[in-house]
Amino acid sequence: MKKTVLVTGGCGFIGVNFVRLILETQKDWQVINLDKLTYAGNPESLKGVDDLAGYQFEKGDICDQALVEKLFKQYQIDTVVHFAAESHVDRSITEPTEFIQTNVLGTFSLLEAAKKAWLGDSVKADSTANRFLHVSTDEVYGSLGATGLFTETTAYDPRSPYSASKASSDHLVRAYFHTYGLPILITNCSNNYGPYQFPEKLIPLVLNNALNGKQLPVYGDGANVRDWLYVRDHCEAIVQVLKQGQTGESYNIGGHNEKKNLDVVELLCDILDQKVGLLPSGESRRSLITFVKDRLGHDRRYAIDAGKIAADLGWVPKLTFEKGIEQTVEWYLNHKDWVESVMDGSYQKYYQKMYGGEPSESKDN
Ligand code: NAD
Ligand code: TYD
Repeated sequence: MKKTVLVTGGCGFIGVNFVRLILETQKDWQVINLDKLTYAGNPESLKGVDDLAGYQFEKGDICDQALVEKLFKQYQIDTVVHFAAESHVDRSITEPTEFIQTNVLGTFSLLEAAKKAWLGDSVKADSTANRFLHVSTDEVYGSLGATGLFTETTAYDPRSPYSASKASSDHLVRAYFHTYGLPILITNCSNNYGPYQFPEKLIPLVLNNALNGKQLPVYGDGANVRDWLYVRDHCEAIVQVLKQGQTGESYNIGGHNEKKNLDVVELLCDILDQKVGLLPSGESRRSLITFVKDRLGHDRRYAIDAGKIAADLGWVPKLTFEKGIEQTVEWYLNHKDWVESVMDGSYQKYYQKMYGGEPSESKDN
């Protein structure tokens, strides 16, 4: 029997990498990708795998419970991997409504549909065939000082509308385990980087601006710390949690790669200078670095203790930061057309060609 996985948000950054990994490596799984195609969702990122027999795309909103229930029945979904979310902290500060809608209410809608489909009227059913994996973030734990690491028992202390919405959804997911016995798993991962990341996040934004001779905005003093993980390592960890994780548990996923933002930006400048040459002025790309007003409520430091997933499930990241960054820069250099298409909306034409109709929102929304 094939495992039938409902992937939500499979046209976003991590979702695309996950769908590609599954279709490459798990030949007895099939993927149903439910994505609303917001500005961050790009079906063209799945070109080359989207015509495989094990892949089906469904355009729609996770908040549409009737639709989600229909999909559970239609495809006999036995596994959910829930990526769909509004994911950018800066947007959550200026436009929080959509974050509450999708991240909180959308997760609720999926939980209700999974409960109906898998548990029916039974309470505390032991449902080993089913798994609802909720993909979350280390940002739910708040901000660290100079020392310490987030573990799975660190108290939640979200501090941005984004992290508060993710924390809310984590609590709901856990509540469905304790109350109804829904077989859930939660992963809390640190900052991802790699192919197909929308150029609003630090690394692809800096790469894109640096290639085009534009300013590189560094918030505050540039000393905020993030713990970077290559996206494929994250996706492999998710597969491991799906296969071997204990339901009801959460697993922290991280790369043990703490870096100050300024160090990351300078490293990207140096790699680009080396690969494509200095700016036409003869200066290094470091000259484009511009310190700008700090983000409101900017969390100072995130760092993950990934000891539990290593000890219990044997997962450790494969790629060092140096290798992962090198691969990422290469990918963006070789995929300038992808960056242009997500920035100028031409992916919408691809959508029309592949699936007909219009994406739900334009990139300007
Ligand atoms: P992304 O913003 O790149 O992609 C989100 C995807 O979800 C898009 O394809 C979008 O169209 C889709 N989507 C949004 N609202 C939807 C809705 N209402 N219905 C259906 N689809 C909808 O996000 P990402 O960076 O790939 O993150 C994926 C998940 O991983 C998120 O839940 C995020 O919180 C979590 N996460 C991300 C990171 C990171 O560094 N990017 C780290 C840890 C956890
Ligand atoms: P981001 O990629 O938005 O991820 P998150 O806020 O979820 O950690 O930002 C990573 C770090 O980089 C964060 O500390 C904010 C900072 N940053 C900048 O300094 N300049 C930028 O232009 C962006 C987008 C982020």
